[in-house]
Amino acid sequence: MHNPLIVALDVPTLEAALKLVEELAPVVGAFKVGKELFVSAGPEGVRRIQSSGASVFLDLKFHDIPNTVARAVEAASQLDVQMLTVHASGGGEMLRAAEQAAQECGRKLGRRPPLVLGVTVLTNLDNAGLSEIGVEPDVGRQVERLASLAVKCGLRGLVCSPLEIALLRQIIPSDTQLVTPGIRGPEAKKDDQKRTLSPKEAIDAGANWLVIGRPIWAAEHPRAAAGKILASLNEP
Ligand code: C5P
Repeated sequence: MHNPLIVALDVPTLEAALKLVEELAPVVGAFKVGKELFVSAGPEGVRRIQSSGASVFLDLKFHDIPNTVARAVEAASQLDVQMLTVHASGGGEMLRAAEQAAQECGRKLGRRPPLVLGVTVLTNLDNAGLSEIGVEPDVGRQVERLASLAVKCGLRGLVCSPLEIALLRQIIPSDTQLVTPGIRGPEAKKDDQKRTLSPKEAIDAGANWLVIGRPIWAAEHPRAAAGKILASLNEP
């Protein structure tokens, strides 16, 4: 069965990341490398993580002119990452260029293109935050609009908050992959996450992948914590 757990490697050094990777690679589906780790450890850090046999989700949230984003996607494809992110608010032309670059690079290298994921509205933005940047102050409508645009431009996946999964499942094709952070078990600390679902609730609502950070990497026994989350997915 597909292992839907993606562990966010939100740690400052490659050394700390590799220690987690070594412990967790056998029990998780992939690792997320974000801006902090990528800026400090670079592509070589990604390769070192992959050399353990693990897949990498490169979460750099590209947003630039189409040509620049396409070239960044091509570079990420050459790194053989499994997934990467772009801001859907970068517009249709940018999204199409990103997907096309991934597909072309996949064809050239004879492997599956990385899954280009569209990020809709960052969860820290509320209606007032949207209004501040001149966007209609309705987060739900903006998420729907950007998700539909991303799918129309060929993207095969989206990042969404757990509370948006059910809504998006009604308006996007069923084979669109949904990747969801903001996951907390019933007894877990919420940290700074406000709108959460449990791992099982998120999968039942239609998520394909769960991005989980602190509940795993900050646990006393990360591997046991990951195992417990996986086991919870099979409970009735
Ligand atoms: O530690 P925690 O499980 O909260 O980590 C979740 C990961 O998902 C972090 O890397 C965080 O930056 C990311 N994320 C998030 N909420 C979003 C988008 C990304 O928590 N809306």
